[in-house]
Amino acid sequence: MQRDLARILFPRERIQERVREMAAEISTVYGEDSQGLIIVPVLSGSIIFLADLIRCLPFMMKIGLMTISRYRGATTTGGEARLIQDLNVDIRQRHVLVVDDILDTGNTLRIVQDQLRGRQPASLRTCVLLRKPAKAPKDFPVEFVGFDIEDAFVVGYGLDYNDLYRNWPDIGVLRPELYA
Ligand code: IMP
Ligand code: MG
Repeated sequence: MQRDLARILFPRERIQERVREMAAEISTVYGEDSQGLIIVPVLSGSIIFLADLIRCLPFMMKIGLMTISRYRGATTTGGEARLIQDLNVDIRQRHVLVVDDILDTGNTLRIVQDQLRGRQPASLRTCVLLRKPAKAPKDFPVEFVGFDIEDAFVVGYGLDYNDLYRNWPDIGVLRPELYA
């Protein structure tokens, strides 16, 4: 896998460090309200981040599952986001935190947020490990961001290309010739 990467952007140690910081930021915001927190991960890209993040949260929480898919094929072009599988828990009057791997154009997260807001949660916040400021609208509502990155296609730590590379522990830039 490593030879398919042009370079490493964030080594695993740096990711772990930032995930712990993010969990601390999240804990500060929710404080005592955290008893009823429902975390909604956007599958599948967020699974590794989710697993690490929630183990750093010092309070009770539940996971609400829903599946949104955007890309029919490979990289960031084409394909509208679609709701594949609806949420399995009732979020009405509950505090909801959406967790995703990356905020790129924001199309996927906007659909998730709209879906969830319509069910009248007590609050709705969003947490992403990565954000591409070159693509994401300036005013896109996201409360917790791990790292801002350049507009390159990245893989590893849950992020995929054609469903591959999710298990690579670091985050790296995929060699462009592999998806050109
Ligand atoms: P958006 O709808 O354009 O914001 O794209 C969000 C989704 O696209 C993310 O949840 C990822 O699954 C995928 N995505 C966007 N950029 C990348 C990337 O650089 N590497 C891997 N997946 C990406
Ligand atoms: Mg994703």
